[in-house]
Amino acid sequence: MVPPHFRIFGRSLFVAIGDKMRSNYFKNAVHQLGDFHLSRQIRNGIFMDYSKIHKDTYDALADEYEERVDTLLPVTQEAISYFSPHVASGGNVLEVGCGVGLAVKLLAEQGFAVKGIELSPKMADYAKKRNPHAAIVVGDFLTTDFKATFDGIFAFAFIHLFPKADAVRILDKMYSILRASGALYIGTTESSESTEGWETKEDYSGTHKRFRKHWTEVEFRDALECSGFGNIVLHKIPDPFGKVWMDFTAKK
Ligand SMILES: C[S@@+](CC[C@H](N)C(=O)[O-])C[C@H]1O[C@@H](n2cnc3c(N)ncnc32)[C@H](O)[C@@H]1O
Repeated sequence: MVPPHFRIFGRSLFVAIGDKMRSNYFKNAVHQLGDFHLSRQIRNGIFMDYSKIHKDTYDALADEYEERVDTLLPVTQEAISYFSPHVASGGNVLEVGCGVGLAVKLLAEQGFAVKGIELSPKMADYAKKRNPHAAIVVGDFLTTDFKATFDGIFAFAFIHLFPKADAVRILDKMYSILRASGALYIGTTESSESTEGWETKEDYSGTHKRFRKHWTEVEFRDALECSGFGNIVLHKIPDPFGKVWMDFTAKK
């Protein structure tokens, strides 16, 4: 009898095999099998179009994100101070989930050629207004086919919006679109337990939902290593809202 995990999508097979055993052979097989969009909508028979839900949530919260830009400036500057020394001067950087475009602006001011991808059109409107000369694309990182490769990828407060099975594929994709020796900056909050599920976003107004994966430090380091990243360095950054961010620089 074939166990249920092995019957449906390649991704379930991927999860069943376990993170530790992810070999390039299986990664490639999953990429070939993977219709990313379809497989993320149906997980064990449950319909879950979280990109649609996240788009609505972040559209609704875009004004509040914009209002918090000044408060978040020091944290963003600190994150960039860890990232930018790893990217060659004038290199091209992709910011994934760029929100209202604060980091895009700061990175461009450092001389990088910055491209931002953002799911929420309302967030992207603010990012475009803040960065009239940058390439801000409205799109879903999971399904966007990038023609270019990048010297750096910056992804702050993004990776925890996905179930682990998709997050590891996102890390694989980030690895694949980085140039040799390219640098990744990726951040989430640290958790003592590994959990995931839908949560109401309580640090903003309303009752908007988002998917939230809580990563432990060991688990996240392990995921980065499994995707091929090395030189992994942790940076802990407290923000003005009482959260402590667990950010990593890592190299291809
Ligand atoms: C918590 S916000 C962080 C925004 C920004 N990075 C910052 O630190 O202020 C996460 C952002 O990721 C965007 N996002 C969510 N899923 C995405 C996807 N699949 N592709 C691109 N952007 C996405 C959301 O719309 C939102 O703007």
